[in-house]
Amino acid sequence: MKLFQHVQDIGDLRVALAEAQQVKRDRYQWQHLGRNKTALLIFFNNSLRTRLSTQKAAMNLGMNVIVLDVNQGAWKLETERGVVMDGDKSEHLLEAIPVMASYCDIIGVRSFARFESRQDDYEERILNQFIRYSGRPVFFMESATVHPLQAFADLITIAENRPDRPTSNPSREGGEKLRAANERSEALPLTGERGEGHLSSLCGKERPVKVVLTWAPHPKALPQAVPNSFAEWMNAAAATVTPPQGGAGGELDLALPPIDFVVTHPEGYELDLQFVGNARVEYDQMKAFEGADFIYAKNWSCPGVTRPEDYGKVLHDYHTMMDWCVGARQMAVTNDARFMHCLPVRRNMIVTDDVIEGPRSLVIPEAANREISAQVVLKRMLEAL
Ligand code: CP
Repeated sequence: MKLFQHVQDIGDLRVALAEAQQVKRDRYQWQHLGRNKTALLIFFNNSLRTRLSTQKAAMNLGMNVIVLDVNQGAWKLETERGVVMDGDKSEHLLEAIPVMASYCDIIGVRSFARFESRQDDYEERILNQFIRYSGRPVFFMESATVHPLQAFADLITIAENRPDRPTSNPSREGGEKLRAANERSEALPLTGERGEGHLSSLCGKERPVKVVLTWAPHPKALPQAVPNSFAEWMNAAAATVTPPQGGAGGELDLALPPIDFVVTHPEGYELDLQFVGNARVEYDQMKAFEGADFIYAKNWSCPGVTRPEDYGKVLHDYHTMMDWCVGARQMAVTNDARFMHCLPVRRNMIVTDDVIEGPRSLVIPEAANREISAQVVLKRMLEAL
């Protein structure tokens, strides 16, 4: 793998899930791959989970890791050509990229949407310069439009907690077990007991797992990267219905359930077609939640699809949108749904205390799976060096 940006870059999702399962069973068995190899993680924006989980994943693989916070200690970087650099930016990205690349083997970059120009953001002008000028494999650690490491971790979490999985656990219990397993360097099973239910699910004979992505209020304008990638990966998962042919996937319990994917948001927040695809869009949140197995909450600002002039804006005073905050009222109409959010989350804006702390919340195991998704991606990049 030379690039990790879109769901297609990971290939067959069932094989990717099987690899995640292998990593979880023993995350230290590929240390030879990373010996004398260096991962450079470049952050133009803040991070807790991405920073720590990716660093941990690289260390699991025996890599050296360099973390650069561009806005804290590095020279401020100009990103546009043709600019007379008489301001506060001392170095151009076009020199900085090959210099940084000379110190490493694999590059991860986080650079959020700037909301100055929809075209610039959706053309991924910053990340594309790293792809073009670094000469190194590049993986996206949340760009202007996508957050694939998060979406892969989300898919792993859904596969682990599918409703027909016999050993499915409430989140806090699951989180405790995961933490305990981490400490013992053990692997949690990605799925439960293997059986007829699994096969019939793969063949689409059972009720699909209903996954709902819901917009929720927030006081600030947030990018669309997380919902874009979540939609992209859920659509790809929904389209993956036949068992894989041979390979690792033929031997492992892949646990990719048939998925019915629904997106709900107020009018004006329509996601870009390249990500939302043919997903069902339901403007009535309560209707969307009916019978749901997974609720994935996230705020995003106006994507500028139906209202181009409003790209990157918060369309309504959040005080008037608080009925979209996910609470007991909405969860009551679901199929005892699991609650998911990528974190960080603003409580009682996006979700109530009771729901995020409740037995159906998956936010902690979901965050823990960021280490697993990052390790699969780094492992594949190391194998392709
Ligand atoms: N979910 C996520 O990417 O978290 P951080 O912003 O803390 O990295």
